[in-house]
Amino acid sequence: METQHVLVSAKAAPCEKFIPEPSTATIDAAGNSRERSLFKKQLYETFSGNQITDSILNEAAKLFSENYGTWGDHSHNPGKPVKVSGHRLRKQYLPDDPSAGLHARVIADGVLAGSAFACRWKCAGKRICWITQLVVDKAYRERGLAINLLRSLRSDADDVYGIASSHPAACLAAAGAFASSIEKVSLDYAGENAGEIIKASPIPYIREASLCGSLFDSKDTTGLVCGVDTRFFVNHKEPLEALKSARETWDWPLGDLPEGHEYLLVMPARQRRTKSV
Ligand SMILES: CC(C)(COP(=O)(O)OP(=O)(O)OC[C@H]1O[C@@H](n2cnc3c(N)ncnc32)[C@H](O)[C@@H]1OP(=O)(O)O)[C@@H](O)C(=O)NCCC(=O)NCCS
Repeated sequence: METQHVLVSAKAAPCEKFIPEPSTATIDAAGNSRERSLFKKQLYETFSGNQITDSILNEAAKLFSENYGTWGDHSHNPGKPVKVSGHRLRKQYLPDDPSAGLHARVIADGVLAGSAFACRWKCAGKRICWITQLVVDKAYRERGLAINLLRSLRSDADDVYGIASSHPAACLAAAGAFASSIEKVSLDYAGENAGEIIKASPIPYIREASLCGSLFDSKDTTGLVCGVDTRFFVNHKEPLEALKSARETWDWPLGDLPEGHEYLLVMPARQRRTKSV
């Protein structure tokens, strides 16, 4: 049974971790909660692929459909909300092999507030963990839920983390969870490895995405540095506002975002500290 519950209290500490086999552990507050959190209680749950029931998927699909965003002008459905069913979540964002899929969700003060899906696969002897979908309820954003959700998916056995997203906040969250900060992400690593890694993905939209940006093509003039063309024509109004704000804080490394494209982050897992005996 791999389902894991992490309960985070309103203040940064104390935090408790509940694991189904009755054992509890205190978690370092800095690792799992954000001081700016305004919630009384946050419950983080992770599910391995074969624990993801249709009911869990349907709840995640509702959250996604009400909060993801709207279709852009170049899409088949401009202005309409981007929606997904539980069935499509499984088909598009989880691998056929259930043991390679992963889901995390956060219940904040009793409400399903955020959800993430991921897939693991092997490439060149390394274990890849790729975030295939991430959404946080509009009313609960900018309080650290996305970054904590992604942290809850980390495993010491992962060698590389990846995400493709049109939303700069998703990239900031992934960089914060897996690499410490967006400025610390080595784009050289993505430049050298992204092609081979995405080609090995069991998730079709990742495997079929074409690498774009000046990192991969010196003749690229779109302003994108590191991204993928996924033909995903979601409205960029909100992501572009987030980009403007992110650029005020960070030396934003991924460039501009053309229509139908998503930013790409491929990051080696942080070196684990080993204790000397
Ligand atoms: C992307 C999304 C999941 C972020 O969720 P969130 O819970 O608000 O994110 P967090 O609070 O954990 O913030 C993560 C980082 O992004 C920053 N951030 C969040 N929203 C931001 C915004 N609108 N503008 C600028 N920065 C923002 C935070 O400050 C934080 O950075 P920091 O660690 O440097 O402080 C949420 O905006 C969302 O669901 N968007 C719509 C769906 C989508 O585009 N998903 C990505 C597809 S994979």
